[in-house]
Amino acid sequence: MAKTDFNDRMLSLGLARVSEAAALASARLIGRGDEKAADQAAVNAMRDQLNKLDIAGTVVIGEGERDEAPMLYIGEEVGTGTGPEVDIALDPLEGTTLTAKDMPNALTVIAMGPRGSMLHAPDVYMDKLAIGPGYRDGVVTMDMSPSQRVNALAAAKGCSTEDITVCVLERPRHEEMIAEIRTTGAAIRLITDGDVAGIIHTAEAAKTGIDMYMGSGGAPEGVLAAAALKCMGGQMFGRLTFRNDDERGRAEKAGITNLDRVYTRDDLVTEDVIFAATGVTDGSILAGIKREVGYLTTETILMRSKTGSVRRMTYRNPV
Ligand code: FBP
Repeated sequence: MAKTDFNDRMLSLGLARVSEAAALASARLIGRGDEKAADQAAVNAMRDQLNKLDIAGTVVIGEGERDEAPMLYIGEEVGTGTGPEVDIALDPLEGTTLTAKDMPNALTVIAMGPRGSMLHAPDVYMDKLAIGPGYRDGVVTMDMSPSQRVNALAAAKGCSTEDITVCVLERPRHEEMIAEIRTTGAAIRLITDGDVAGIIHTAEAAKTGIDMYMGSGGAPEGVLAAAALKCMGGQMFGRLTFRNDDERGRAEKAGITNLDRVYTRDDLVTEDVIFAATGVTDGSILAGIKREVGYLTTETILMRSKTGSVRRMTYRNPV
């Protein structure tokens, strides 16, 4: 049978539905203190909805290795099996703790592209650096120190370093980096979780107030963030980091030979993709789920890198 092309335009609405379904399923678990239940509800709903799409899909960024995750594991085949061969990167609930505690910026996230379009990132940390669109290539680099990056970005933006805001995950491993950024006078938006949202914030700096993202977080989340920036514009760099041989083994198993490589956004996501994310809790890029008697309403961002189109969709769903 002839291979069907990846028709990103036709598939994009289906992808938004998948993202919405996961968010709606986690709605009743917002603020209930149960991270696992919230994640499970999102996983089940995302998988059910994904299996309705006419695609021969393979999960390349998912809930974990097959022996660790029963559903949406890496390598799981999803979709009806009739349709284009696609790779899927997903995080049914990005910010499980944010959801359980009803804190800002929890999202459901999914990206889809032709087979081989996204790095099969192992479950290790990735050092990440991201800025929004409109800057010359390489204005900030992984080789620069945190303060050099702030200085370079301020010069490129034509502002003082005090007018720059950097988003960083609040972790003990980032203490030195945070202290160095502070020496420049830049502001720091500390987030407790959710670096996919943290990176997306840089693409809409005027709205979110965040100019740059830096620090380490999950490598799978790095691929998802790169997919979003490929659609919205912006630069991103990532380098895998390893704490032990087991983690190095995970990378080798994923086919990665150069463990020190600095990946650009387009190395992480090599072909055009579509991306959808739905707000679970309120955030600066998406509204969270709103409840009224008989209805739940979601907001979803749906984007295609081929055209750079960014749609925001509100869905009022009778329950
Ligand atoms: P979960 O949604 O799986 O809880 O992940 C949230 C997250 O904050 C990611 O956004 C981030 O990449 C990663 O965890 C950071 O990992 P760690 O908590 O180990 O620093």
